[in-house]
Amino acid sequence: MFSQASHNSRLTPVEPVAGSTELLARISDLIEDLSPDQVDLLKAFHRVQHEFGYVPREAVFLLAGKFRTTPAIIYGTIDFYSEVRMAPAAETTVEWCSGPACLLKGSLNIRRALEAILECEMNGTSADGKFGLRLVQCDGTCDLAPLVRCEGRYIGPLTVSEAIEWARNLKGEDGRAPTDGEAGAVGQSPDAAQPVEAE
Ligand code: FES
Repeated sequence: MFSQASHNSRLTPVEPVAGSTELLARISDLIEDLSPDQVDLLKAFHRVQHEFGYVPREAVFLLAGKFRTTPAIIYGTIDFYSEVRMAPAAETTVEWCSGPACLLKGSLNIRRALEAILECEMNGTSADGKFGLRLVQCDGTCDLAPLVRCEGRYIGPLTVSEAIEWARNLKGEDGRAPTDGEAGAVGQSPDAAQPVEAE
C-alpha cells in the first residue's frame, strides 16, 4: 500500500518576483502589436533583449500566453537560439566552436580548460559576471581549427596549453592585466603552426 504523501507539491504557491509588475507591463507594451502567430516570436525576443539586455525569466509566461504556446516551448526556443540569453551578458564573452573540424582537432579539451579557468559553464557566465562562454557553430573558418572567438577576433589553431595560456592572460592570472593588443595573444604552437588572430 502506498502511504499518503504529507504534502501536495502542486499546491505549493509560486512567490511573485519582486518588482516584476513594472517589468511585465513594459514587456507587454513591447510585444503588444505582434501577431499571436509564432512567426513573431523571434521579433519578441529581439525587442525584449534589446530593452533589457536579456530575456528575463518573468517574460516567459507572458510570451507563452501571447503566442498561445507553453512556457516549455518558450524556454526551448530560447535555448535553441544562441543569440538569445536569459541572463545579462558577461563583460567578455568567449565563443567556443562546436563544429566537426574543431572537435576532431581536440576542441573538447580546450572547452574543459576554458570552463575551469574562466570559472563558468558553457553558455553560462562567471559568478562575477566578467566572463561568459558561448557555444557557437562552425562559420567556415576551419583552417584555424580548433579555434575560439573573442570580441570579434578569431584565435587559432590552438593547442590545449595555448588555450590555457590565452585564457589565463585574458583573465589576468599571469600577474598582469592584458592590454587590448595582448588580450588574444597565444604562444607558439609546438608544430610551428603559429596561431593567428584575425578580425
Ligand atoms: S569546425 Fe570550427 S571553425 Fe569550422
